[in-house]
Amino acid sequence: MQPLLKVQGLNKQIAQRSGFLQRKMVYLLKDISFCIGQGETLAVIGETGAGKSTLAKVLAGADDASSGQILLESELLKDGSKQLMDSRNIRLIFQDPTTSLNPALTIEEILDDCLRFNTELSAEERLEKIKQTLSKVGLLVEHRHYYPHMFSGGQLQRVALARALILDPKVLVLDEALSSLDPSVRAQTVNLLLDLQRETGLSYVLITHHLSLVKHMSDQVMVLDHGEIVEYGNTQEIFCNPKSKTCQRLLTC
Ligand SMILES: Nc1ncnc2c1ncn2[C@@H]1O[C@H](COP(=O)(O)OP(=O)(O)OP(=O)(O)O)[C@@H](O)[C@H]1O
Ligand SMILES: [Mg+2]
Repeated sequence: MQPLLKVQGLNKQIAQRSGFLQRKMVYLLKDISFCIGQGETLAVIGETGAGKSTLAKVLAGADDASSGQILLESELLKDGSKQLMDSRNIRLIFQDPTTSLNPALTIEEILDDCLRFNTELSAEERLEKIKQTLSKVGLLVEHRHYYPHMFSGGQLQRVALARALILDPKVLVLDEALSSLDPSVRAQTVNLLLDLQRETGLSYVLITHHLSLVKHMSDQVMVLDHGEIVEYGNTQEIFCNPKSKTCQRLLTC
C-alpha cells in the first residue's frame, strides 16, 4: 500500500557566518526520509535545536527546503524549494495559539478568512462549515462570536485545531502544540485528537518533549540530532531497545 505522506532525502542548508567575511553552509536538516500511512502518528523527538520545528515548517509549506521531495498520496507536493501544490493538506499547529490568532478578529472571522482564501464555498456554506468544525473540536457553535482573549488556554488550542481542520487536511503537524496545556486539559485534547483520527483517518506528526504522549499516541518515532535522523522505527520497539546514544539519553531523562 502507498503511504499517505512520503518524504525523500529532504535537506535544508543555510549560510552561516564563520569568521570575518567568511560563510559556511550548515545543514539544518540532512537527508530526512520517512513515510506515514493514513491514520498513523509519527512522533518526532530530539534535543533542543535538533531541527524539529524546521522540519515542521518545511512539511507545512511555511519554509523552503534546499533539496529533497515531499509526496502526498504519490503526488509531488514539494520538490526542493519548489512548492508544486498548495499545502492545505498538511497543516501546522504551534505551541502558543495566542501568537497565531489575530486578537482583533472573532473566531468566525478567523475561520471564515481561511475558507474564503482557500475554497469556493458560498457564505452560507462557509457558516455551516464553521459551525460543524467548532462542534468537531468540542467547542460551542456560539463560541464563533468570541474573540481569542475570551478563551482559556485549552479552548484556544481547540480554536487553533478548528482553524487547522477547517480545510479538511490529511496531515496535522503538532509542534509542541500540547506542551503549554495543564495535564488534565492536555489529556482531554489528546483524547479529542485520537477520536478525530479514528473518525477521519487523519495522520499526525507529533513533535513533543513529553515521552508519555509519544508512547500513548504514536505508531512510529523518529529521533533527530543536529538535523539528522539517528533512529527511526516502531514506537514500542524503540522504547524497549533504543540503539542510538541520543535516543538512550532522551528516554532516560
Ligand atoms: N532561519 C534560521 N536561520 C538560522 N538558523 C536557524 C533558522 N531557523 C532555525 N535555525 C537553527 O536551526 C536549528 C534547529 O532549530 P529548530 O527550531 O528546528 O529546533 P527544534 O528541534 O525545534 O528545537 P526546540 O526543541 O528548542 O524547539 C537551531 O540551531 C536553530 O538555531
Ligand atoms: Mg521547536
